[in-house]
Amino acid sequence: MLKGKHIVLGITGGIAAYKSVTLLRLLVKKGAEVQVVITPAGKEFITPVTLSALSGKPVICDFFTANTGQWNSHVDIGLWADAMVIAPATACTIAKMANGVADNMLVTTYLSAKAPVFVAPAMDLDMMAHPSTRRNIDTLRSYGNHIIEPVEGELASHLVGKGRMEEPERIVEILDNFFSTPQPLKGKKILVTAGPTYERIDPVRFIGNFSTGKMGYAIADEAARMGAEVTVVSGPVSIKPDEASVKVIRVESARQMCDQCTALFPDSDIAIMCAAVADYAPAEPHTSKIKREKSEVPVITLVKNPDIAATLGQAKHSGQIVVGFALETDNERENALDKLARKNLDMIVLNSLRDHNAGFGTDTNKITIITADGSDTDFPLKSKPEVAKDILNAITAL
Ligand code: C5P
Repeated sequence: MLKGKHIVLGITGGIAAYKSVTLLRLLVKKGAEVQVVITPAGKEFITPVTLSALSGKPVICDFFTANTGQWNSHVDIGLWADAMVIAPATACTIAKMANGVADNMLVTTYLSAKAPVFVAPAMDLDMMAHPSTRRNIDTLRSYGNHIIEPVEGELASHLVGKGRMEEPERIVEILDNFFSTPQPLKGKKILVTAGPTYERIDPVRFIGNFSTGKMGYAIADEAARMGAEVTVVSGPVSIKPDEASVKVIRVESARQMCDQCTALFPDSDIAIMCAAVADYAPAEPHTSKIKREKSEVPVITLVKNPDIAATLGQAKHSGQIVVGFALETDNERENALDKLARKNLDMIVLNSLRDHNAGFGTDTNKITIITADGSDTDFPLKSKPEVAKDILNAITAL
């Protein structure tokens, strides 16, 4: 997929710059046309001669070519690019990119680039872990840049930790995947519910569950990569979407989640109900903290929460798709089939808490997809992003 693609390879002044030579070589081998833009510090680590020989193009570092006065247009390079890859990206360049400090060709090109930008940080572990670096990387993420997280291993300082630039082979694979990801959900509006709900007992206590939102957010990110316009209605979680285009509406309780979903659903093509919604809420939450000293053992009377999936399932018109989840501990298939029918769903994703490494808080999941038209497919244990792909492919097939 990289054949004929115009790639701007930005190189900054870090030890990992030696790996950029391999990265450049691999990109060229894949048929990409590569323009190297290097920072002045980058040239201290790797010579422009090597880079221009491998790319077949003069390496750009300065705003002007000194002897001819020729102007190197960062705007033209930015517009030429199908993708810009900054590898290695030092803490300094990341900070400049996050704050628009355009004092070299690399950062000015970055600010002019309309194409997707991939950033592969590389630095010592303490620099990487510093709140300043983390904040700047989060800022780049919020601009929609793709962060290729560094990996753990031995660093130039001989310390061991997270900070090694991702291997060139893997960076090429990420770019290749990016250009080969089909966008079958382009033009579709998708509503995803994610995370737990909290049902207040009093101002400091709630009834909740162990959901972390990982599966729902993985679905939201993957759907965005497949071209969809995605809104997540999310219960309280500590995670964020990776894709900048994913809109998040934060709620606390099932009732609030239901209100948001019913408002959004008429304008949605697909609703994926991944949240672990509390079935019951305290009937009358206390307005002040329940005190142990003053009261008898409290009795909390519960009322039923709205079933959001069933509400949307009943409201759906032809062309809309509603997908539910069934997280079961026993009689898995029977329960899932019952939910599929009772909630008027088009598809149900079954996972069992009996499966090792599946369900709440794990990074993996093992699912069975059952559709209303009778198909039934078991999938092996996979990472949640891979599971998200399987679910979205099954929805696309519908
Ligand atoms: O009935 P049960 O809670 O097992 O059903 C699970 C499915 O229904 C999930 O898709 C979940 O997100 C959805 N659900 C809901 N509103 C509820 C309860 C469950 O949307 N109140």
